[in-house]
Amino acid sequence: MPLTRKAYRAAILHSIADPAEVGIEASYEYFEDGLLVVENGRISALGHASELLPGLPAGVQVEHYPDALITPGFIDTHIHLPQTGMVGAYGEQLLDWLNTYTFPCESQFADPDHANEVADIFIKELLRNGTTTALVFGSVHPQSVNAFFAAAEKLDLRMIAGKVMMDRNAPDYLTDTAESGYQESKALIERWHGKGRLHYAVTPRFAPTSTPEQLTLAGQLLTEYPDLYMQTHISENLQEIQWVKELFPERKGYLDVYDHYQLLGERSVFAHGVHLCDDECARLAETGSAVAFCPTSNFFLGSGLFNLPMAEKHKLNVGLGTDVGGGTSFSLLQTLNEAYKVMQLQGARLSPFKSLYLATLGGARALRLEDKIGTLHPGTDADFLVLDYHATPLLSYRLKQANSIAETLFVLMTLGDDRTVLQTFAAGRQVHQR
Ligand code: GUN
Ligand code: ZN
Repeated sequence: MPLTRKAYRAAILHSIADPAEVGIEASYEYFEDGLLVVENGRISALGHASELLPGLPAGVQVEHYPDALITPGFIDTHIHLPQTGMVGAYGEQLLDWLNTYTFPCESQFADPDHANEVADIFIKELLRNGTTTALVFGSVHPQSVNAFFAAAEKLDLRMIAGKVMMDRNAPDYLTDTAESGYQESKALIERWHGKGRLHYAVTPRFAPTSTPEQLTLAGQLLTEYPDLYMQTHISENLQEIQWVKELFPERKGYLDVYDHYQLLGERSVFAHGVHLCDDECARLAETGSAVAFCPTSNFFLGSGLFNLPMAEKHKLNVGLGTDVGGGTSFSLLQTLNEAYKVMQLQGARLSPFKSLYLATLGGARALRLEDKIGTLHPGTDADFLVLDYHATPLLSYRLKQANSIAETLFVLMTLGDDRTVLQTFAAGRQVHQR
């Protein structure tokens, strides 16, 4: 393959460590006039334009963005493909919301044409919003995952997904069995896991919709294949937690159900965790598991406020999740806007650099992919964004009053959304242009 090399000149910012561990100043690198060099889908150099430009071989094209910020692509650690058509459904909290809106909407994925159509819309929406990697729930139907991976593969995206396993407490039209869920997941793993930049996640929906037999087989899949992911929901809603206690009276608590079936581990991501207790956070951290913080969903479904400081105390890996369609936006900028308010309501602060970390490197660490995505370090995948300082008249005017990159970043996260994302690049290829 011929060498393809291209350079991008702009203000460039990336998170290089968790501010909770190293302090804010050591957590990021910022180049006011920076240069990012991309070769064959990977980043080959990052630095000040003045230092790198003289050494750039003649003929390398340089794109210059005088009024934009380059950042790594955003990472969404929790989202549902088959809920794209029901974002913003009125009036219910989790359990009634699932029965009233979610299950009927997901049932449409029995039709492969529908699955293909929504997969295209969904991936476009991710890229329009600057999300280059997502950990995705399909529906119970394998075709939802086939449609998603086929569309992601065409664009060489780094994506993780799995078919939902649920064999009880859901309508008949939407359940598998312990055995069929296992076999269908296995077939999808054989077909997609490790193909290009795709990875498979074993996906029991949540404890109430899986029998002990199904949870056992989910755990078995994780031991049969290396590097598989596991994704599920935990401790999102108080009624849900009570229900889990009734269904699994022999277990110590919600997390202990998953622990018993050996579903905790370095590639396990638990969505929400709003009502986790101290001991559960400690156990999650001890096993290297991660939690997806989903503020727009936790507000919208009235679930509660995630306790990020408690997670930090335990050095628990936390990524950010939109949780569409419980969440109300595909935008991780809008998700951070709400995350900030979650902290405000708890008398805590979310610095813009911690926010940047959560949306990029923190998500990559939650997914154990920090050597490939989440930063702009040379050698990593060239998944990055061009964020437009003039995306809207208000943003443009407001940013003129900003005196530091901290302020600029915070305003981008408060006022920004899909309009802010001018271009999205994945493996060095432009995959979205506003
Ligand atoms: N718990 C079980 N299923 C779901 C779902 O689809 N969305 C959310 N937010 N929580 C869940
Ligand atoms: Zn969810």
